[in-house]
Amino acid sequence: MLKGLRITLRKNERDDLPRYVKWLNDPEISYHLKQYYCLNLDDETDWYEHQRKDPTQLNFAMTLSESAKHIGAIGLMQINQRFQQAELGILIGEKDCWGQGYGREAIQLLVDFAFSELNLHRIYLRVDVSHIAGIKCYTHCGFIQEGCLREATYHHGHFEDLFIMSILRSEYRSKE
Ligand SMILES: CC(C)(COP(=O)(O)OP(=O)(O)OC[C@H]1O[C@@H](n2cnc3c(N)ncnc32)[C@H](O)[C@@H]1OP(=O)(O)O)[C@@H](O)C(=O)NCCC(=O)NCCS
Repeated sequence: MLKGLRITLRKNERDDLPRYVKWLNDPEISYHLKQYYCLNLDDETDWYEHQRKDPTQLNFAMTLSESAKHIGAIGLMQINQRFQQAELGILIGEKDCWGQGYGREAIQLLVDFAFSELNLHRIYLRVDVSHIAGIKCYTHCGFIQEGCLREATYHHGHFEDLFIMSILRSEYRSKE
């Protein structure tokens, strides 16, 4: 468990899955996510079973420290021990929790754990260029835009560029 002032990251439990199904089927929430199709509990259970045994993934449920309310998820994917890097993904499913700095705190908790305990060297993420809230949140956490994948995603009949953003352990340490 990774405990912060307002946010706690804990392991996902089977009981969390119906909430993920609800959130991921909400087009407003999933708009900027890779997942874009209808999901049911069986799909989510398959994901849960798969990721538990997959050493290249480490996923957490995001909860409010005060009430333990489950509000989202955050995780590392494509964990590569040789190159000491991983891709970060985040989802706040409770929309009234957007824009309150929870994403920033959850990312800081996970990035700290990844550099201090997992001995990672680089954490990167992909974000749509139109996802202003996401870009602001990641920039606040020290992520730097390092590249642009041209027309690499597709929304409502239009291709859109994707930014690659990353943070290195040395950059993170220099902020401490
Ligand atoms: C993207 C996400 C993780 C950000 O988390 P969050 O807790 O809402 O973000 P924060 O509050 O830490 O920071 C968001 C920043 O964007 C700003 N912001 C929010 N909506 C905005 C908008 N429409 N236009 C401009 N700025 C906006 C906020 O004011 C804040 O900036 P500030 O700290 O300078 O005030 C969260 O909104 C989310 O999970 N969305 C749905 C799923 C998703 O898009 N996942 C990421 C895919 S890359």
